[in-house]
Amino acid sequence: MPTALITGANRGIGLELTRQFKEAGYDLIAVCRQPSQALQALGVRIEKDVELTERASLENLAQRLGPVRLDLLVNNAGVLRPSSLDSIESQLDDFRLQYEVNALAPLRVTSILLPHLKDGGKVVIITSRMGSMGDNSSGGHYAYRMSKAAANAGGVSLAHELKKRSIAVGLLHPGYVRTEMTGLNGDIGPAESAAGLFQRIEELTLETTGRFRHANGETLPW
Ligand SMILES: NC(=O)c1ccc[n+]([C@@H]2O[C@H](COP(=O)([O-])OP(=O)(O)OC[C@H]3O[C@@H](n4cnc5c(N)ncnc54)[C@H](OP(=O)(O)O)[C@@H]3O)[C@@H](O)[C@H]2O)c1
Repeated sequence: MPTALITGANRGIGLELTRQFKEAGYDLIAVCRQPSQALQALGVRIEKDVELTERASLENLAQRLGPVRLDLLVNNAGVLRPSSLDSIESQLDDFRLQYEVNALAPLRVTSILLPHLKDGGKVVIITSRMGSMGDNSSGGHYAYRMSKAAANAGGVSLAHELKKRSIAVGLLHPGYVRTEMTGLNGDIGPAESAAGLFQRIEELTLETTGRFRHANGETLPW
């Protein structure tokens, strides 16, 4: 049975990914700060109290995994806070937080869990088309866009680096999804998004490593 670890698994897209990978026969390790009732109801292994911006917390997670070997790591956790040019000085903490969670954490988590990843496995970063420069037709959301663009840049380097271990890296946009992050606005629900992401992850190979794709299958511009 393949094993997958998913961050931000207590709600939103991460919760649905956890549900769908479990249904597909994976052994799940659901990583979160506080488990929700919905996550607990899935009956998967839960690793809680994991604050993705803290080194001690990440080291503790790696330790708790013990001998676990991962086929798949999904860096899903993310944060969106308002940010604008005229308020940048009062929003600097939020700018930094988004960089820490959206860009740095996927890289830090991957780095610390590398010894647990199987050769030939997969690493996924749930990024956003908001990080695309080619697709930015409306501006705004400085911090979120910058953090996701940085996540994409990191993901491409990761794809090159992990090739030597035959680990494929996917950079996936989930769609505009009705979750707490969007105030429950969006084009699709978490279940539809997770179903698309599941397919894209199944399709991911060393031939397609480092690509930036929409859950609906489109390739997105950088
Ligand atoms: N929804 C969309 O339309 C959309 C579009 C493009 C990309 N995305 C991306 O998709 C991913 C999932 O988003 P979502 O819509 O499911 O958002 P969500 O419902 O707001 O869930 C965010 C998840 O990230 C976790 N998280 C945030 N900061 C964390 C931290 N410092 N340490 C540990 N966990 C942390 C949250 O945990 P807590 O419950 O503990 O806060 C929660 O589990 C994110 O990367 C997001 O940027 C979403």
